[in-house]
Amino acid sequence: MWWTGAVFYEVYVRSFADHDGNGIGDLRGITDRLPYLAELGVDAVWLTPFYRSPMADHGYDVADPRAVDPLFGDLAAFDALLARAHGLGLRVTVDLVPNHTSDQHEWFRAARGAEPGDPERSRYIFRGGRGPDGVEPPNNWPSVFGGPAWTRLPDGQWYLHLFASEQPDLNWSHPEVAADLDTTMRFWLDRGVDGFRIDVAHGMAKPAGLPDLSPDALHGLHSMSDSNDPRFDNDGVHEVHRGVRRTLDAYPEVMAVGEIWVGDDERVARYVRPDELHLAFNFRLLESPWNAEELRTAVDRSLRSIAGTGTPACWVLSNHDRPRHVTRYGGGKVGLCRARAAALLQLALPGVAYVYNGDELGLPDVDLPDEALQDPIWERSGHRERGRDGSRVPLPWAGDEPPYDFSPGASSWLPAPEGWAGLTAAAQGDDPCSILNLYRHALRIRRTWRGRSAMAPEASLTWLELPRDALGFVREDGLVCVLNAGTEPIVLPPGDLLLASGPLTSLTTSADSGGLALPPDTAAWLAST
Ligand code: GLC
Repeated sequence: MWWTGAVFYEVYVRSFADHDGNGIGDLRGITDRLPYLAELGVDAVWLTPFYRSPMADHGYDVADPRAVDPLFGDLAAFDALLARAHGLGLRVTVDLVPNHTSDQHEWFRAARGAEPGDPERSRYIFRGGRGPDGVEPPNNWPSVFGGPAWTRLPDGQWYLHLFASEQPDLNWSHPEVAADLDTTMRFWLDRGVDGFRIDVAHGMAKPAGLPDLSPDALHGLHSMSDSNDPRFDNDGVHEVHRGVRRTLDAYPEVMAVGEIWVGDDERVARYVRPDELHLAFNFRLLESPWNAEELRTAVDRSLRSIAGTGTPACWVLSNHDRPRHVTRYGGGKVGLCRARAAALLQLALPGVAYVYNGDELGLPDVDLPDEALQDPIWERSGHRERGRDGSRVPLPWAGDEPPYDFSPGASSWLPAPEGWAGLTAAAQGDDPCSILNLYRHALRIRRTWRGRSAMAPEASLTWLELPRDALGFVREDGLVCVLNAGTEPIVLPPGDLLLASGPLTSLTTSADSGGLALPPDTAAWLAST
């Protein structure tokens, strides 16, 4: 299948490219820049939600999943994007948000206007409160974004929202909920999309009776990546994915990947059973610090979680919900060197890779001033958590001043910082040593490296014996990847050098004066001899 071994590129629609000049990315902006993605060498794009939305969570609060929000364009603009992408050989996948809707969705507006107990409310999770007159929420659940997970309507009933109060959770035991997702999938599949990314794919089934979280579970609960959160990964969620798969199976060559934050490897595997999703994001690499042993464990665990499933691993270094890896790895020059090395690691691992827009430019997170912050997390946490805006700053395309050709207008929805002139796609395109050209080069090698069979699902790798602070492996097809996360250079294993993330040094101490050493924070690819 086309996605086996594919490299997907996540387009965070608001931040990729603005065509109409209002400072917010849009579909025409993406279409304008598709040749850049084709030249980069990715196989597919994933578009974050561009559906009709009041934008309380920047589109993850969907008011109509079968309409384009005017902010981003219209259906004609979507069709043009799809046609252009297909013309360039790029597949297009789009987001599905089945866990919740916007509070402006027609279903929720009807629910809000109805009486307690009215069937209009049964598509969501309404409950009476606790305590005198029900003034306390029905249970002690916090929202993933901070504050309580319940909001009370003037008539006294409470509704559940695991995210913002503008994102009421759907009741997946209601038959219309599943039927509507099916309609939405068919709507986009009939237009020609190649697949879906499923938002909060481990969240739709709530624990029976909505019990209070134990003090232990509550303690330190900050995000849905907490593996012990009993509100996620309940067994009932798999019925939802079986339904998704039934719909997909009626179309040729389409796929779905789930956003699954699940700690237990064996439980991750359940999402990719033959009648469920094709891929499950694996976030272990994204969660691993810059440390050889932890990176190796992340790889081992990821491979273990798909072993025997017949599906490829799915590697992620960054996305629109987490700080960018340049910043996670220390920022500045060091962060960038490590990000270059990490790119070679990610792109050498057997399976599928997801590149987040801006990874290929080596973008760091931006320290935004308080007044610029827009993520609902900032308000909901009472300004204790700054949220995810730092990794969502619009892409710099060209020029010396913000917004760096992101928009024909003078500004962008999140301000780009001064000092990014050297990071623009145009500047990096002209620099053979840029991270952009490293990505292009790596993707070219990946594509051609002994054919696609190299990326067969579950292709295995063998770890090399290397110093403790380094890791390296050889794949079945002979591609060797070595990464030095330590502070001393290491001797490169034998093989023909294909690509390095930074300059290599000569082995001055070795008897073989022609030998090469891999400096700290650097990775290399070799062809085993
Ligand atoms: C997913 C999205 C995130 C969004 C949340 C709620 O985690 O990636 O951006 O806020 O779901 O829809």
